[in-house]
Amino acid sequence: MVEFNFKFALTPAIGEGGISYGDIKLLKGKLTDAKGNLEKLRKDGVIGLYDVPEDRQVVKDIKNMAEKFFSDGIKTLFVFGMGGSSLGAIFLQNALKQTIDKTVNKKMKVLFSENIDPAYLSNNIEKLNLDETLFCFVSKSGSTIEVVSQFFIIKEKLENKFKDGYKEHMIFITDKKSGFLRNFADENNISVLDIAANVGGRYSIITAGSLFPAYCMGLDIDEFLNGVISARNNILAKEPLDANPVYTAASIIYLYYTQRKRNMFLIDTYGDYLNEFGRWFRQLFAESLGKDLKSPTPVKATGATDQHSQLQLYMDGPQDKLSCFICLKDYGFDYNINSKGFEKYAYLNGKKLSELLLNELSGVELALAMKGRPSFRITVDKINEFTMGELSFICMEMVPVLGNLLEINPFDQPGVEKGKKFAYLLMGRTDSSFASEMEELKRLQKIEDVAF
Ligand code: PA5
Repeated sequence: MVEFNFKFALTPAIGEGGISYGDIKLLKGKLTDAKGNLEKLRKDGVIGLYDVPEDRQVVKDIKNMAEKFFSDGIKTLFVFGMGGSSLGAIFLQNALKQTIDKTVNKKMKVLFSENIDPAYLSNNIEKLNLDETLFCFVSKSGSTIEVVSQFFIIKEKLENKFKDGYKEHMIFITDKKSGFLRNFADENNISVLDIAANVGGRYSIITAGSLFPAYCMGLDIDEFLNGVISARNNILAKEPLDANPVYTAASIIYLYYTQRKRNMFLIDTYGDYLNEFGRWFRQLFAESLGKDLKSPTPVKATGATDQHSQLQLYMDGPQDKLSCFICLKDYGFDYNINSKGFEKYAYLNGKKLSELLLNELSGVELALAMKGRPSFRITVDKINEFTMGELSFICMEMVPVLGNLLEINPFDQPGVEKGKKFAYLLMGRTDSSFASEMEELKRLQKIEDVAF
């Protein structure tokens, strides 16, 4: 179960500079429109967020594929994917580490490459027993340069060892119809799983892109999808103003951004196993909403660690932040602190370590409120596949609702595409659709470097 508490976002707690529940109610028309727009996109099949999790054939295909490789003796899965195409699975691996460690029939050790650092790649692949390794290339477009370039490196390495048998050590997860990976898989008989056409990278935690690696880790992907569907049903059953946490959170972020100049959205996860969730949420937020000169900038922090790193700034720096704290009720393990005999620390005696963590969070909320700095809190009961499914859906719906309020299309990423085009040009690829980038590149290359 996931609980929301917005007390520290509203005027009674933070004073005049805050927003009131009345301000949220004034958004009723916009919120109803947002709900209607998303419903229409769902009905028209444009977005798969709501219905793809129901498609249990996808789960069957994932399991069959993984079991086949498992029975072939594959013990390590090495996943290559950029942005949304790897962050979902990395989030699940981090969050559910305790479950994975305890899983008796663990399928495979799962590694990721979400960058193109040659030293990292070499350091990881040189240690592998290639006979027992499966290389998994995840790319919705099937043509992302970082993934494709690493595919060529791995292919060469595998061919040197296995000749044509290299194909048995590869799997692609990509669009059903188009892209380099899809075509290569079809022409060369490489194992492939599909990513639904109507689910983009950062929403792909509900597709094979994340669920295949998750299953290989030994996670219960049915339970994860049950969590997604449960949250979906709960949220969709409510009207936007009917104690609806997704619409309330989106409204609060929107109002603070548009009316109170809160340009920074702080995602502060309390606990180590929510760390990668924070990275996943930051990417979902940034890439979906950062358009048309709009949107707060998401910033990621980890409590209590970053209380000793960034908190000073959040407390006394510019009044431009809204904080979202995410914590657990039950951390899955606990210690009782025994400070008997240490008078100065008597107040700690018999307290749990998680109690200290959560009280540190409460302390931060109170101190921020005292300085008129808003925040809200999301509490997850405990980490398991189901609750991580719930949490994922809540974020994946909140972002498009906010996108609707900001009048931004949360499902495209034109800025990323532009950066990719420049990189292609610099690597020597030409294309008539790169004409404007080519012009700009020529102009900038004429300007001398200012370097020391
Ligand atoms: O969320 C997104 O859409 C992006 O982060 C993509 O996932 C990323 O650019 C990789 O794209 P692709 O999956 O096409 O390789």
